[in-house]
Amino acid sequence: MSKPVKGFSKLTKEEKISWLSEHYFNDKEKGIDVLKKYWNKDERLQQLHDEFIENTISNYYLPLGIAPNFLINDKLYTIPMAIEESSVVAAASRAAKFWMDRGGFKTEVIATEKIGQVHFRYEGDPEKLQQFFTKIKPALFASLEDLTANMRKRGGGITGISLVDKTDALDYYYQLHCTFETLDAMGANFINSCLERLADVLQKEADNHRDFNDTERDIEVVMSILSNYVPNCRVRAEVRCPISSLNEDPELTPASFAKKFVQAVKIAQVEPYRAVTHNKGIMNGIDAVVLATGNDFRAVEAGIHAYAARDGQYRSLSHAEIDGDDFVFSLEIPLALGTVGGLTNLHPLVKLSLEILDFPKATELMQIVAVAGLAQNFAAVRSLVTTGIQKGHMKMHLLNILNQLEATPEEKEHFTSLFQDKVVTHRDVTQAVEDYRKNKA
Ligand code: MEV
Repeated sequence: MSKPVKGFSKLTKEEKISWLSEHYFNDKEKGIDVLKKYWNKDERLQQLHDEFIENTISNYYLPLGIAPNFLINDKLYTIPMAIEESSVVAAASRAAKFWMDRGGFKTEVIATEKIGQVHFRYEGDPEKLQQFFTKIKPALFASLEDLTANMRKRGGGITGISLVDKTDALDYYYQLHCTFETLDAMGANFINSCLERLADVLQKEADNHRDFNDTERDIEVVMSILSNYVPNCRVRAEVRCPISSLNEDPELTPASFAKKFVQAVKIAQVEPYRAVTHNKGIMNGIDAVVLATGNDFRAVEAGIHAYAARDGQYRSLSHAEIDGDDFVFSLEIPLALGTVGGLTNLHPLVKLSLEILDFPKATELMQIVAVAGLAQNFAAVRSLVTTGIQKGHMKMHLLNILNQLEATPEEKEHFTSLFQDKVVTHRDVTQAVEDYRKNKA
């Protein structure tokens, strides 16, 4: 059991590691060695990573992979993906190639509105609060002029402030519900700064408002924060092709494949247990691109899952249908992304990922990310309704198993070829490796 520690953040990195190894590592030398192996030799680069967060002791690598051949609105992209799951990049690449040969992905940004709220408590006459709000609204906007000047120059800024009475849901609870256009920035810092300013002005104006009694004057701001739920910052991606060109499985006709695929997506529409896993497959693609481009995948995840449950039941984010002779598969999701600010100007791999994408605007990145989600979902559902997921998944996982067994390069080559046409299981691979090594000895 470790003891509580005081002033930990003030210790040097070496001191933090010593403390950690003292309290937690069975083999102290080995633990320290592992941490240091992941330090970057380039001291400036290491310092950059050290300073991203507090108490950095090492770096945590994820592979950065590349999925080429994504044709989106007739432009060809190579998509960078940061992810550890073996089959994701392979599946994305296969789906990209499949749809490139069938006209590619079509996408559309539906809206780009961001949201922030000042949550406050007011114990008084709602009518008087409404009159007060109407009176101070110009002052609220005016108070943001300096903060929004740069954003306004580029066509963004705050687009609306409304007073919302939430007392039906919670006693004395009101909010200033604010909408923003943050252009190529994700906008979290910008929005939060604006909200905190609005909160100040709200309280000061209330203090001086003659029509309020003492209790009414005492508006209590509980918190001011952006919302990661952005249903009006939304993007849609779609693929469509004649059913006859869905030659996916030798054992299914294209029409049966299309029918089974549509049925699988409908199941995810009505069955939450399936919907969560279905959407997890979509997030495999989305998170990987969001992470590679230095965006906040927790915000994206939270917002997308809330959207999936917007009518009270958690449902599939994607839709599939047969439209005449066509198979149509689409995805619509809320996404708040940035291509400037935050990590995008700092992390060298993020900068490079954005360069690979030809320095997209935030709206273009929204479309690329949605496509990555749709492609991933297509690949997963296609496998599920044909071969089953394990065949492809475990094939990609084979190298992980071989690495766990500390296979030599020669053994890796041998077993990759041996399992080429077999279903890979952990047990079978372990057994095969043991036998092979015994025979060799
Ligand atoms: C695995 O990471 C993702 C899948 O489970 C998605 C799905 O079931 O649709 C294969």
